[in-house]
Amino acid sequence: MVKVPTKLVTWDEIVEWSMGLSEVIKRSEFKPDVVVAVSRGGYVPARLICDFLLVDNLVSLQSQHWTEAAKVAEKAIIKFPYKIELSDHRVLLVDDIVDTGDTLILARDFILSEWRPRELKIAALQWISPVAKIKPDFYYIEVKDWIWFQYPWTRHEDTAQFIKRIIVEEKEKKEWTLSELEAKFRDSYGIYVGDKYFKLALRTLVELGMLKEENNKYLVRSL
Ligand code: ADE
Repeated sequence: MVKVPTKLVTWDEIVEWSMGLSEVIKRSEFKPDVVVAVSRGGYVPARLICDFLLVDNLVSLQSQHWTEAAKVAEKAIIKFPYKIELSDHRVLLVDDIVDTGDTLILARDFILSEWRPRELKIAALQWISPVAKIKPDFYYIEVKDWIWFQYPWTRHEDTAQFIKRIIVEEKEKKEWTLSELEAKFRDSYGIYVGDKYFKLALRTLVELGMLKEENNKYLVRSL
């Protein structure tokens, strides 16, 4: 059975953590003139940090894991490697979490070699210290035991993915009721995302052709 330690993160916590992180940055006396959000996870924290630190300039760079065809291992890539001139700027690179750190390291190295900032520092809301290959210059929470943080900006995507995993794991079961799925979800992930998100994710799986809704049951189609 899938058991993934998961914490549901609320919007209020995101504001509190971003405010706390901004205080850490302020105390350091580092004054960024450009914030670079690592896309996609860094978007919301980066925008909030711009607000709390009164930074006008916000750009983003998409660094993400990419599963190569026929390969199990994932590789980090810069998706749109565009060029800008930052030699007069102090850059704050912002992400939500430093887990392995692979995507962040790639983004940092790309910016240093292609955008050539005067200075670059890294900030993240959370840093999973035992697994991370890099320690951010600024962080708000050090995480000592790996868990999945279910951030509010991936609520729908994660919920659909989690439900799909449940169905794949029990592939002999071809019919699920809503309450069976909800109970299994709680049991596997230990969180409740709320009815709106749960139903939206189920609708998505129906639209993707993985489930079919019939007589108050979800029938498993192609996975
Ligand atoms: N992205 C990468 N690692 C993560 C984690 N542990 N929780 C949430 N999002 C992540």
